[in-house]
Amino acid sequence: MAAHPQAQYWNAISDLYRSITRIDESDFHYGPLLDGESVLQLLPPLQLGMTSLELGCGEGQNSRWLARRGLQCVAVDISEGQLAYAREDAAREGVTIDFRCSSIEGFDPDGATFDLITSSHAFEFVANPFEEVRRIATWLKPGGTLMISTVHPVYNGEWVSADEEDGSETWGRLLINYFKPIDDIREQPDGQGEAVISRAYPVSAWFNAFRQAGLVVDRLEEPPASQAPAYASEDWLEAMDECSAIPTTLIIVAHKSGPTA
Ligand SMILES: C[S@@+](CC[C@H](N)C(=O)[O-])C[C@H]1O[C@@H](n2cnc3c(N)ncnc32)[C@H](O)[C@@H]1O
Repeated sequence: MAAHPQAQYWNAISDLYRSITRIDESDFHYGPLLDGESVLQLLPPLQLGMTSLELGCGEGQNSRWLARRGLQCVAVDISEGQLAYAREDAAREGVTIDFRCSSIEGFDPDGATFDLITSSHAFEFVANPFEEVRRIATWLKPGGTLMISTVHPVYNGEWVSADEEDGSETWGRLLINYFKPIDDIREQPDGQGEAVISRAYPVSAWFNAFRQAGLVVDRLEEPPASQAPAYASEDWLEAMDECSAIPTTLIIVAHKSGPTA
C-alpha cells in the first residue's frame, strides 16, 4: 500500500527537520519564534498521574516535558521517521511514553480518555480539522483540557512591498481573502508532486469549532514573536522582524466542563 503522502513527506524530511529545528527542551513549546509555557502559562495545573495525549508529536519534546512532570503520556504522529527520533530521545532520557504511529484522522484511543490533549502545529496538515476537534473532544475527561496551536490565518498570506511617496518601501502582509486564506502547498522533496497542504482558517471558525464540540474556550492567543523563543531555526530567526509584526500562530485552550477527578 502506498504511504500516506503526509507520512512520505515527513519521513523524507525528518533528518533535515531535526538538524535545522532548535527546540528548548526545558520548556513546553507552542510554535516557531514563540515563548514557551514558562512565559505563556496556558496549560492547566499539572499533577502526577494525569493522562496526556499529544497529536502530531514530531520528536516528542512536549510529551517528554509532560512525562518529566509525572504525566502518563500517549504521543501520536503520522511519520515513522519523526517517531524514530522521538523514541530514541525518550529512551535516552529514560522517560516512558506510549508512541503510536497514526494519522490524527485515523487515531482511535480505544476507549481511553485524557486529562490533557495537546497539539502543536500539526492541525494545519489535517484536511478536516474541525471534524477532528469534535471527535477529540469526546476523548477528554470531564474537566480535561484541549490545547491546539496551529498556523494563524494571517500567516497564510504573502509579504508585499508598497512604494512610499518619499521613495522608501514598506512591507506588509497581503491577505487576498481572510475567510479563505491561501493554502501553503509543499512539494515532496524527491520532486514526486504535491505532498502536504498547510491550511489556515479564520480565528472565529476555530473558536466556533471548539464551542460546537461542547468545549469551553478559556484562552485564545496570538502571541508575538519572542526574542528568546522556545522553538526556532535559522530560517525562522531570519524572519523575526516580519513575524514580530503579525501573528504566526493561533493557540486555543479549552476544557470540557465537569468536575476534575
Ligand atoms: C511542524 S511538525 C510539529 C511537530 C511537533 N508537534 C513540534 O511542535 O515540534 C508537524 C508534525 O505533524 C505530523 N503530522 C502531519 N500531518 C499529520 C497527521 N495528519 N496526523 C498525525 N501527524 C501528522 C508530522 O509528521 C510532524 O511530525
